[in-house]
Amino acid sequence: MAAERIGYHGSDMFSHRTDWKLTPNRFTEAQQELRAAGMEVLDLTVSNPTRVGLAYDEEAIMQALIRPEALDYDPQPKGLRRAREAVAGYYREQHEEFDLDAESVILTTSTSEGYSYVFRLLCNPDDEILVPKPSYPLFEFLADLQDVKLAPYPLIYDHGWQIDFPSLYKAVTHRTRAVVVVHPNNPTGSYASAVEQKELNAFCREYNLSLIVDEVFLDYAHDGVARPTFARNPDALTFTLSGLSKISGLPQMKLAWVVASGPEEKVQAALARLEVIADTYLSMNAPIQWAVPVLLEQRKSIQPLLLDRLRTNLEELDRELTKQKASARLDVEGGWYAVLRVPVTQSDEDLAIDLLRKVAVLVHPGHFYDFASDGYLVLSLITPPEAFREGVRRVLGVLNG
Ligand SMILES: Cc1ncc(COP(=O)(O)O)c(C=O)c1O
Repeated sequence: MAAERIGYHGSDMFSHRTDWKLTPNRFTEAQQELRAAGMEVLDLTVSNPTRVGLAYDEEAIMQALIRPEALDYDPQPKGLRRAREAVAGYYREQHEEFDLDAESVILTTSTSEGYSYVFRLLCNPDDEILVPKPSYPLFEFLADLQDVKLAPYPLIYDHGWQIDFPSLYKAVTHRTRAVVVVHPNNPTGSYASAVEQKELNAFCREYNLSLIVDEVFLDYAHDGVARPTFARNPDALTFTLSGLSKISGLPQMKLAWVVASGPEEKVQAALARLEVIADTYLSMNAPIQWAVPVLLEQRKSIQPLLLDRLRTNLEELDRELTKQKASARLDVEGGWYAVLRVPVTQSDEDLAIDLLRKVAVLVHPGHFYDFASDGYLVLSLITPPEAFREGVRRVLGVLNG
């Protein structure tokens, strides 16, 4: 056949980058089985803020979406100036004496899209990006789709999480283009400290790398003390990613951004290229861009509710933990998750499956976030408090035999 003559096989029909294992893993299968059996599962992995019983200002949100200006099509690659000014206004209000230029902001539909723009800007195929481990599981897919390789650098836990700089230096190669920092990290809840920021800048300068900083959880410091943003980092070319999904608890609105900062010449060169990438897709829609000022303003009512929820659940977890010996909570500074250190009697995945089958509680096994070893479970602190309390009680019941 003609296709065979030119050496073409059926398996070549799709790109290798899409050769994912598409069958459900055992953990997903266990969830499906319980659901099919009609079992009510307590979900302690919930990360969707629109489904945890928060009171949104529905009227203000809906009104913001029906502005007549949205009937006009004004294709601006970086996003409408008015929307970018609202983003700059957010930084101005949250961070003292920070006058962000709206021209340094590029709007995207999600931070995932922001990552893909920045990976595209910085990397040739098979170039490498350094990513923290443990961290957010989406990086692997984002990297695959952009033909980029991920090189993990460890965060180590010793009375709080820290970047393992010797390992970071060991992980860099001539193909490395950037370092990803998640500030605070998901799920460890650790911010990059001022000392670490300085060391990261020195590292990037030494190897001519960029920083890609994911700040979606920046505003959720549990102690209420605002942490500095990398969006004003002057010392290395820095791409700061954030958006409405966590800042205002509005992931369904699909509005995020990339802020470029650092040495002026590099920033201008990066922005010019990013503008072409964004112009190729023009993915922003008009109603959302016109709504940005109101949607960003929603953070002022939603963040206090979420912070209250995080603290309530964390206090409940700590109360239950004092009654037992098997497990302990790792320190957490910010974000929506808590990490439990648990006895290693089986793999974390088997433990999570056991918890589902025995007590109908859904928690994430540590391996989902690429923890270096077994012995970790991750709980979502935005879970409605009644479900959280009962779920924690059941999980600790199993862990303590
Ligand atoms: C660290 C981190 N970055 C980004 C995102 C996703 O943000 P977006 O909805 O803007 O893509 C998440 C979602 O959980 C996250 O945990």
